[in-house]
Amino acid sequence: MAEIAVIGAGYVGLTTAACFSHLGHDVTCADIDEARIAQLLRGEVPIVEAGLEALVREGLEEGRLRFVVGAANAAPSAEFAYLCVPTPQDDDGSADLSYIEAAAREIGPRLPSEAVVVNKSTVPVGSTRVVERVLGRDDVVVVSNPEFLREGSAVHDFLNPDRIVIGSDDQSAAVRVASLYIGVTAPIIVTDPPSAETIKYASNAFLAAKISFVNAIAAVCDAVGADVKDVVLGMGYDTRIGHEFLKPGPGFGGSCLPKDTRALVQIADSAGYSFDLMRGVISVNEDQFQRVAAKVRQMAGGSLDGVKVAVWGLTFKARTDDTRESPALRIVSLLADQGAEVQAYDPAIKGPVGGVVPANDPYSVCDGARVLAVLTEWDDFRWLDFDKVAGLMEAPRIVDARNLLDRPALERRGFTYVGIGR
Ligand code: NAD
Ligand code: UGA
Repeated sequence: MAEIAVIGAGYVGLTTAACFSHLGHDVTCADIDEARIAQLLRGEVPIVEAGLEALVREGLEEGRLRFVVGAANAAPSAEFAYLCVPTPQDDDGSADLSYIEAAAREIGPRLPSEAVVVNKSTVPVGSTRVVERVLGRDDVVVVSNPEFLREGSAVHDFLNPDRIVIGSDDQSAAVRVASLYIGVTAPIIVTDPPSAETIKYASNAFLAAKISFVNAIAAVCDAVGADVKDVVLGMGYDTRIGHEFLKPGPGFGGSCLPKDTRALVQIADSAGYSFDLMRGVISVNEDQFQRVAAKVRQMAGGSLDGVKVAVWGLTFKARTDDTRESPALRIVSLLADQGAEVQAYDPAIKGPVGGVVPANDPYSVCDGARVLAVLTEWDDFRWLDFDKVAGLMEAPRIVDARNLLDRPALERRGFTYVGIGR
């Protein structure tokens, strides 16, 4: 079993630390956020992520998981140092490497000889070399090991990955990194670092392309009177196409797909290739926010000025509390710009976010509302009392931007219902 330092205790870092400790390794997880570390030391997990708290408590109780403030404090005995810090979008769309560089600078002088530094953050092609330069150590190898977990099922995805990708020119370092995943059954693909870095961007970009494709097909369905649910079902049985990532919705959001698609366009541009297909994917996604806002306006009778709109769902998808680049927040702001009085509810959001102060229950926001817009696919929304909702609203009208609800059942209760592409 190995000694592993994990730098960054966010969605990826905390999951990586808790799962490696669960697999039997000794893990020290560092963050610069002192309050977060204090919380974690008490066994409290600051994010909504199924199964994570149990693994953190298990690691703390069994003495295989420690939390420290500052990357340098995790480095001295680390055989492996996983970088899991943010790579946000810079002004020109490219990935900002300053957090990666800062973390590498902090651990560089403290790492023991023969340590392996592993990039798990999503980083542009060439970043393995950047980290090598910043570390300035001939006795330390840098390896790329991108992460493919999804928020909401991070622990499950880490422990049951579709594949493990390791990018290294040093075969023995690649084998050492592969051996950390003891007990995890998945194909392991060893490549050179630029290919591993490209696999990560290409995968997220492909998923984003599927979503924009299906949202564009939904627009066609709206125009020609087809039902996108049936269309996707019929497409998905073709094993070359599959059923996954073909759910139409309010557009893709979150901390990764939007920034990674933009970064890939920028990476391609700087290498002399104009990635127009990916530009199209991004522009269809931007249009989708507008399309949903237009459906709400149309449902309200053509104008949103002074109109009360109820919104269910603020997170970028269900089963997470993450609102980074949430399509719901984009749509709420488009509605507010047109004069709507938006009242919102989300089961995972209790405090103000993006200018919205959420209510504590799904019913109160419907009081006097002309339209109810469902923007996140929380399962809880399916089982609410729709007779009560209808009674509270000015008139029962729903724009279901996730095609989540039971349309015939709602229509029987007198709702006017509009979905996406059906
Ligand atoms: P996050 O913002 O949730 O967490 C990052 C953490 O790093 C924060 O807690 C921050 O305080 C800490 N940090 C920043 N600088 C530090 C330093 N010098 N030392 C110690 N800690 C430091 O970010 P995230 O969502 O976990 O994403 C991290 C990386 O992983 C990004 O590159 C992202 O693209 C990639 N990624 C994210 C996901 C996901 O689902 N969120 C999945 C795969 C890959
Ligand atoms: C995504 C990828 O799925 C992960 O593999 C990757 O590791 C991660 O980004 C990352 O690099 O950070 P995540 O951001 O957690 O994971 O969310 P997804 O489940 O991919 O959803 C992204 C967005 O697409 C959400 O807004 C979601 O509602 C939307 N979506 C997804 C659809 O509109 N339709 C679908 O069929 C699927």
